[in-house]
Amino acid sequence: MSVSDEVLTGVRAALERAEYTVARVRALLGPVAGGALAREEIVPALRATTGGSPLEVFVRLLWLQVPVAATAVPEEFFAAGLAERVGERARPLLRVQPVEGVDGRHLGYAVSDLAVRPGSKRTPRPDHVVGSGGASAGLAQLVVHRPVDNALDLGTGCGVQVLHLADRARSITATDLNPRALQLARMSFALSGVEGVKLLHGSLFEPVADRRFDLIVSNPPFVISPGEGLTYRESGLPGDEVCRRLVAGAPQRLTEGGWCQMLANWLLIEGEPWQERLAGWVPAGCDAWIVQRDVQDPAEYVELWLRDSCEAGTAEYTTRYDAWLDCLERWGATGIGFGWITLRNSGAADPVVRVEEIRHPVEQPVGAYVERVLDGLVAGSKFSTACPQGLRTAVDIAQEQIGPPGAEDPERIVLRQRGGLRRAAAVGTVEAALAGVCDGALPLPPLLDAIAQLLDLSPEQVRAHADAVLPELIADGFFEVTGEAAGEETGRA
Ligand SMILES: C[S@@+](CC[C@H](N)C(=O)[O-])C[C@H]1O[C@@H](n2cnc3c(N)ncnc32)[C@H](O)[C@@H]1O
Repeated sequence: MSVSDEVLTGVRAALERAEYTVARVRALLGPVAGGALAREEIVPALRATTGGSPLEVFVRLLWLQVPVAATAVPEEFFAAGLAERVGERARPLLRVQPVEGVDGRHLGYAVSDLAVRPGSKRTPRPDHVVGSGGASAGLAQLVVHRPVDNALDLGTGCGVQVLHLADRARSITATDLNPRALQLARMSFALSGVEGVKLLHGSLFEPVADRRFDLIVSNPPFVISPGEGLTYRESGLPGDEVCRRLVAGAPQRLTEGGWCQMLANWLLIEGEPWQERLAGWVPAGCDAWIVQRDVQDPAEYVELWLRDSCEAGTAEYTTRYDAWLDCLERWGATGIGFGWITLRNSGAADPVVRVEEIRHPVEQPVGAYVERVLDGLVAGSKFSTACPQGLRTAVDIAQEQIGPPGAEDPERIVLRQRGGLRRAAAVGTVEAALAGVCDGALPLPPLLDAIAQLLDLSPEQVRAHADAVLPELIADGFFEVTGEAAGEETGRA
């Protein structure tokens, strides 16, 4: 399927003329139909798009995937293979989703295979190219905002990550094992006015073996399943090996200070602390921040992915379910974690590796402050009150005091981040006092001495306490290290 640039230019012009954008579709559908569509329920959206305007026609054909009057469809849509004529109707062949950036800007269009919705009679073909979904948006929100010279999108699929990277990477390479994905990604780029993307066919890092990138992003086929299945979600490698291989292989493909950010599933294995297992994946020389965002038990996991491929209710459902559970049991899985992996090729002899669970909602997009998160982890690991550093309370920290009304001293003091990762930390009076006075202007030792005097403690006691608790509070972003020494410590990227 090779569609001419001229045809794609015509399609793009029609889509743009109709203002087929996420913002306009959202406004057209309203919250109820929009909410239902997010759950893959199309009936309310069908009821909201009966007016016959070009926008309504395109929403019905390209998003809801229902036939429309052929006369309402531009000729280029047929020539591009987006739809076919069946009598007087146009039947959709491909899905075209408008894509919105993390800042709400219209970025263009992602072309994919038709979504296989719950209740559908057919299951996806093995080389199905999946559209932009929740995971795609989640990765886009995670990716660091700094401009880069060159970026790699590994497993590009419909090309949606490239659309997100287009305005901040001077050159972009996109790879995929599925040749059909490369064809559809090419269409996505043409419909979005994104030029010069190098599209390469091959598995994992094979197509870019000798190259290095400032930024690698990947929403890989991370689903942990009994064997090869659907290319868009399963790698055919056992367990979580595909994600381990990507992590292990990243540093050789990263420039100095380069970033690799990906989504992943990992096995939670009986008797093996998951944090240690994942930390063991991280290669030397890379700072790493790995966040478990969700956990499912084996049954929930299998059900989720059997629903995803519309196998619920089929004759093979029970056998497939049983075999999948067998396989997870053989691997010793007590559950399956889902989350974010961020690596920064710092080249440090003593890189920082933080593996943690954050299940609560955080401020989005994380990419706007992920660099600060990694800098904080590094600064915390280096911190000592003996260094000539200043300390500043991070912006947006609230202090909560809990205790009986009227009591002189609170029972519990909590520092809470009102933005960012929205962490909370129970602290003592020394840290609370520091949070009240640290503005980065004064060096830390005299501040600690003044707090010691105020609390009637010995200066040595207070310094020892600060040395014990501040590294974690700095790593968690409650305090920031300032001053020349701090710049040296954290300016490694
Ligand atoms: C979950 S989709 C992600 C698509 C898109 N990047 C996104 O964020 O929505 C995973 C993609 O990886 C591709 N893929 C599967 N196995 C691969 C492999 N071994 N090497 C490279 N890409 C692979 C699939 O064809 C699919 O397009």
